[in-house]
Amino acid sequence: MRELVYYAAVTLDGFIAGPNGEFDAFPVVGDHVEEINRRFGDTIPTDFAASLGIRQERSMFDTVLMGWNTYAVGGMVSPYRHLRQIVFSRTHSAAGENLEVTDSDPAEVVRRLKSEEGAAIWLCGGGRLAASLAPEIDRLVLKRYPLLFGDGIPLFGTRSYRPAQFEEVSTTAFGSGVVFSEYARRHET
Ligand SMILES: NC(=O)c1ccc[n+]([C@@H]2O[C@H](COP(=O)([O-])OP(=O)(O)OC[C@H]3O[C@@H](n4cnc5c(N)ncnc54)[C@H](OP(=O)(O)O)[C@@H]3O)[C@@H](O)[C@H]2O)c1
Repeated sequence: MRELVYYAAVTLDGFIAGPNGEFDAFPVVGDHVEEINRRFGDTIPTDFAASLGIRQERSMFDTVLMGWNTYAVGGMVSPYRHLRQIVFSRTHSAAGENLEVTDSDPAEVVRRLKSEEGAAIWLCGGGRLAASLAPEIDRLVLKRYPLLFGDGIPLFGTRSYRPAQFEEVSTTAFGSGVVFSEYARRHET
């Protein structure tokens, strides 16, 4: 079955952006970037990947989910148009290539996507959408940057107490100080 994978950059104190959506403090140079380009090329905005000569084969992801704030902060009409893009909002609309804005319940949308054939589904973020989709997340790929923000948008927005176990699949430390950790949900037997 297709997996929902939350792949995101996070600080040591658990933030994915500053309080006003700032993300310029996440370094975009270093050996971890080569790994992003090599393994996670599907998560690079379409035009940017083309300018870098990165082939996007949709081998890992063929669909991306974004909350409205995540979509809006990028300022692009159709940032990942090599993927099927689904943006969640109850108040906004937008039109673009391979882009759909929906006010449907995200968990229902994910369950429907999982019942279809395809590659994995990338949960891009942000924290609020991730909170509403937490029970559906099968895998986490966290890019942990050696930074403290002090304040900002958390990896998961507020949700009720509900422990869920994951097991570590791999951890890779880069010379840049960034650590990629992958976790898979432990399903009860
Ligand atoms: N570090 C990273 O890898 C990374 C990745 C992605 C995003 N980010 C950052 O995260 C920030 C945005 O995160 P955020 O938590 O503020 O917002 P978000 O989750 O991106 O978007 C929140 C909005 O999405 C819609 N939404 C969320 N849950 C919904 C639901 N259950 N049903 C329907 N619509 C729903 C709502 O829009 P309406 O109010 O219009 O209904 C809500 O206001 C940005 O600054 C971005 O840069 C960082």
